[in-house]
Amino acid sequence: MNAVFPEAFLWGAATSAYQIEGGWDADGKGPSVWDTFSHTPGKVAGGDTGDVACDHYHRWSQDVALMRDLRLRAYRFSVSWPRVVPEGTGVVNEVGLDFYDRLVDGLLDVGIAPMLTLFHWDLPQALQDRRGWGARETVDAFVAYADVVSRRIGDRVPMWITHNEPSVVAVDGHVVGGHAPGLRDPALGLQVAHHLLVSHGLAVPVIRANAPAAQVGIAINVWPQQPATEAPEDVAAAERQYAVEAGWYLDPLHGKGYPAAIWDVYQAVGIAPSVRGGDMATIATPIDFLGLNYYSRSLVRADPSEEPFGVAGVYESGHHTDVGWLVMPRGLYDLLTRVWRDHRPPAIYVTENGAAFSDVVAADGAVHDEQRVAYLRGHLEAAYSAMTEGVPLRGYFVWSLLDNFEWAEGYDKRFGLVRVDFDTLERTVKDSGRWYRDTISTGEVR
Ligand code: FCB
Repeated sequence: MNAVFPEAFLWGAATSAYQIEGGWDADGKGPSVWDTFSHTPGKVAGGDTGDVACDHYHRWSQDVALMRDLRLRAYRFSVSWPRVVPEGTGVVNEVGLDFYDRLVDGLLDVGIAPMLTLFHWDLPQALQDRRGWGARETVDAFVAYADVVSRRIGDRVPMWITHNEPSVVAVDGHVVGGHAPGLRDPALGLQVAHHLLVSHGLAVPVIRANAPAAQVGIAINVWPQQPATEAPEDVAAAERQYAVEAGWYLDPLHGKGYPAAIWDVYQAVGIAPSVRGGDMATIATPIDFLGLNYYSRSLVRADPSEEPFGVAGVYESGHHTDVGWLVMPRGLYDLLTRVWRDHRPPAIYVTENGAAFSDVVAADGAVHDEQRVAYLRGHLEAAYSAMTEGVPLRGYFVWSLLDNFEWAEGYDKRFGLVRVDFDTLERTVKDSGRWYRDTISTGEVR
């Protein structure tokens, strides 16, 4: 395949605040739920924390120079809410805000377009102490925080994302408990998801008012659901699971409300969220783009013994990454074409795609990560195929710029285009980083 991307295609890489910044209590920053969680023994592999991470808080200008060397056209990062509003509401920590102000100027100076995510999971602990996203007050707090950030840098940030992967916050954080705040309550999870979506819808016009030239969107993670066989019950099971995981977010964002069949099941078991009048219209506030995070797909079959949706996962053999996710570029094509067919968003960005592999530093000091190169190549080709079928894909962000703190997995899982030595914090561009640089330069995937 000869994938040659258009000149205006936005080639980027992504990170998030807690995963790279460090400086967890520097210059007036308040604690986040991830500080609390990672400081709790047994929660994160190896007892790792984000206290130092990649020390990007202090090394940001070096990292911007790296991005320039990689010829990135865009950089997706997130703002740490408790760095800017340490207590979650009220007093603004101007020093914290200065950090992002400088970062944005540093990016613009070298011609890299900032894409800013307001919430990539590091909720101020002070808000969690008042029930976090389970409380309606957190919705108001988020909108006020969005106002603070967009007032300060809205004149210079062209792309805004309200939330990163609301379902992971809801499910991993509040149902399964493997992520901060580590709770296990399905009803709470659904209420959290609803509050995240409402806060998104309320923040969009606030950001637009402060940043009239900006595009505003949200980043949703989707794993397409592949039926294990063509049997109608397996196909139906895959559709149900898609509605549970993806439709629950994509449908209301596009004005269709929550998927009715799923809602009915939640209601029957008494865990449907409480929804106020006007909420669904708020969630459907038009966005300028939809961000999609894609890593892999799931294989599923019907299994009536699985409560409450009758769907069971099936192991899919093939090449798996270091976090156990199947390498399946075809899933990205399926996802992009399906979302475009179902919802017709005005524009789409792949806001995350990438792979963890257990890289080694070779004798020559380099990291020859050909598996990552192959992963990126395959996924870019799949994205390109979707574009040839009319999907308005405007850009692509590799997860991640740097090896970083992979949440509950700690530092062991490396996703970066750039290796970070977590003892010395030294950065080394991997072969995949050089490959990506060349891809950006020519626009052609080789
Ligand atoms: C996504 C997260 C991102 C990173 C990748 C591997 O779910 O948004 O922060 O951890 O997975």
